[in-house]
Amino acid sequence: MVPDKTEIGIRRAVASDLEPLAALARKTYVDAFGRSFSASDLKAHLKKNLSDERFAEFLREDVFLIAQSPAEMIGFAQIGPAKAEDYPFGIGRDDQELRRIYVLKQRQGQGVGGALLEAALRIPASAAARRIFLDVWEENVSARRFYERRDFKLCGKRAFRTESGTATGFDLIMVRLKSAQP
Ligand SMILES: CC(C)(COP(=O)(O)OP(=O)(O)OC[C@H]1O[C@@H](n2cnc3c(N)ncnc32)[C@H](O)[C@@H]1OP(=O)(O)O)[C@@H](O)C(=O)NCCC(=O)NCCS
Repeated sequence: MVPDKTEIGIRRAVASDLEPLAALARKTYVDAFGRSFSASDLKAHLKKNLSDERFAEFLREDVFLIAQSPAEMIGFAQIGPAKAEDYPFGIGRDDQELRRIYVLKQRQGQGVGGALLEAALRIPASAAARRIFLDVWEENVSARRFYERRDFKLCGKRAFRTESGTATGFDLIMVRLKSAQP
């Protein structure tokens, strides 16, 4: 069922969002990628990258936008300064990174991710950014297409490794240049 979009708002996260936000991230990750990795790799990834403790750090460093219906949190976008150590080429102080966009599985394909991305591109740090980077697993074909249709272009790649060190292809690096900003 396509939801009534007038009931969905996008707002900045506040400290009390921490636990539902982290829970939404873990649920969306397991739904999207849970069958792509071993149970132990999945567990290690959730603990290392999507725990409540990690989200407490993220909330201090990054901007979070939350898509919210009256009943529940539906998705979020996380954006912050690009970190030079994460990229195989030079990163400047005016480069931002779209770190995550996650939408609950049952609400995907209804425009929520697109609305979150648009809102993330409108925050002052994004509007001032020269480049906005993101990475996406090469096998995440629907997300790759989602970003390509929104002016992100492939600009590099790095090895993608699970927590146990198993090589599983590449993380693709994509960039959206200032000239593409709305
Ligand atoms: C990738 C992701 C964030 C996209 O969010 P979404 O809410 O599904 O995105 P949208 O609905 O705005 O757009 C997705 C597609 O649905 C279509 N769509 C948009 N509005 C629609 C509507 N009202 N009805 C049906 N389809 C619609 C769009 O045309 C779009 O097609 P495209 O990808 O070919 O451009 C989401 O699928 C997700 O959370 N995936 C799991 C986690 C993940 O992979 N995150 C990205 C990597 S970090």
